[in-house]
Order: sequence, then structure tokens, then C-alpha cells
Amino acid sequence: MRARSASEDDTDEIARLVVGDAAQASTVALMRLFDLNQVAEALELTRIMTASTESWRSMVIAEGSDGQPIGLVQVGEAFAALTPEVLEFARRVYGENYQEILGPRLAAMALVQAHYPANCLLVAEIHVDLAHRGMGIGRALLDVAVEQALAEGHNLLGLQTLTNNPSRGAFEAWGFVVTETRTDDEFEKYTGATGYHMMLRQL
Ligand SMILES: CC(C)(COP(=O)(O)OP(=O)(O)OC[C@H]1O[C@@H](n2cnc3c(N)ncnc32)[C@H](O)[C@@H]1OP(=O)(O)O)[C@@H](O)C(=O)NCCC(=O)NCCS
Repeated sequence: MRARSASEDDTDEIARLVVGDAAQASTVALMRLFDLNQVAEALELTRIMTASTESWRSMVIAEGSDGQPIGLVQVGEAFAALTPEVLEFARRVYGENYQEILGPRLAAMALVQAHYPANCLLVAEIHVDLAHRGMGIGRALLDVAVEQALAEGHNLLGLQTLTNNPSRGAFEAWGFVVTETRTDDEFEKYTGATGYHMMLRQL
């Protein structure tokens, strides 16, 4: 596997890696939370967020032997943000009363967010293309985050994963443990997941 920093030109591929698998727990929750009917809309929202927050700057991409992106890791704060571009998307999808629709959903989302301890570096996103899972690519991408954390003097890596996300098994295999679980009835109503597990790995 070759790892390289992401660039602005990668936003389509980043969206495909993050939400392209329609059956994945995180894609299902995102689509339900934002009341999106088609994966194409989830792809567009993710692409717009990635581009408008420039979150690609904190991403490393794994390339397959043919140079195609097959995985990514994002180290640092999660990139969900209401940029003007995201609000424009919301206006287009929900109409002029988009704030009434988004408001309660974002409030429910905020209630299940983990509060990380000091000196913890976050893994905001880690995704491997469906066809390339179980081959050690996720672990190699995590090692990129471990190296960065150690170089910056952190002694903890943190991530959060939906309570219904089977990827938790991979994180446990990599030494993460669930240290806190935040749930919320409204969040469950919107997404079908009870909330998020906060997971930490001592370095
Ligand atoms: C989580 C993910 C990134 C792992 O990537 P990957 O390339 O398949 O991971 P690897 O092959 O490096 O390692 C998987 C490890 O987890 C283990 N594993 C995977 N799924 C598991 C499960 N459901 N239960 C127990 N262990 C599991 C494997 O046995 C393997 O262990 P090992 O490294 O000790 O051999 C990938 O499954 C993925 O993209 N999931 C969907 C996206 C997602 O939900 N991301 C997280 C958002 S928080």
C-alpha cells in the first residue's frame, strides 16, 4: 500500500470512500439523520463538506497497486460544519425552511458527541473500500495516525463509532477500548443507532 496526503482533487474519491457503501452503518445513519433519500445525495453532501471545509488537508489516502484510492484516514477534528456551501445544499434539498428541519437533528447529534480527554489525538474518519477490507489496509492507515500522534507528543488516540457499527470489532483488534457511550432517544429516532461509543487507545 502507498500512502499519500490527500489533495483538493480527491474530493469525489473521498466521498466515495466515506459514504459510497450504502449498507454501511455510518452511511445509513447519515442518510437518515439528514433525511436523504438517495446515496447520490449523501455523496454530494460529503463532497461539499470535504471541499468547503478543506478537510482533505488532514487526510491521508491509501492507494492500490493501480494508483486508485482504496482507503483514507483523517486525523484531527471531525469535518462536519455548516459552511455556506452546506447551507446552500440544505436549502436545495429541504427548501426555504431548511433550518427547521436541520436544527433538531443537529441538536440530537450534538448530544451524543464524545468529550475527549486532554492529550488525545482524534481519528475523525477511517474508511477502506469494501472490496479491499480485511487485508490490513485499515491497520496501516491507523499506523499513520499513531505516528503523527507520537510525533506531536500525544499519548492517546481517540475515535467515536456508532453503537450499531460492526467496525468496532476492528478498532478493538487494534487496541481501542470503549471508555464511554452516549445515547439519546431523539438521535435514535432519526438514525436508528442509539448513539456513539467513544473509544481510546493508549500509545
Ligand atoms: C473499519 C475499517 C476501516 C477496517 O479496515 P480494514 O482494512 O478492513 O482493516 P484491517 O484489515 O487492517 O483490520 C481489520 C481487523 O479488524 C478485525 N475485524 C474486522 N471486523 C471485525 C469484526 N466485525 N469483529 C471483530 N474483528 C473484526 C479483523 O480481524 C482484523 O484484525 P487484525 O488486524 O488483528 O487481523 C473498515 O472495515 C471500514 O472501512 N469500515 C466501514 C467504515 C467505517 O465504519 N468506518 C468507521 C467510522 S467510525
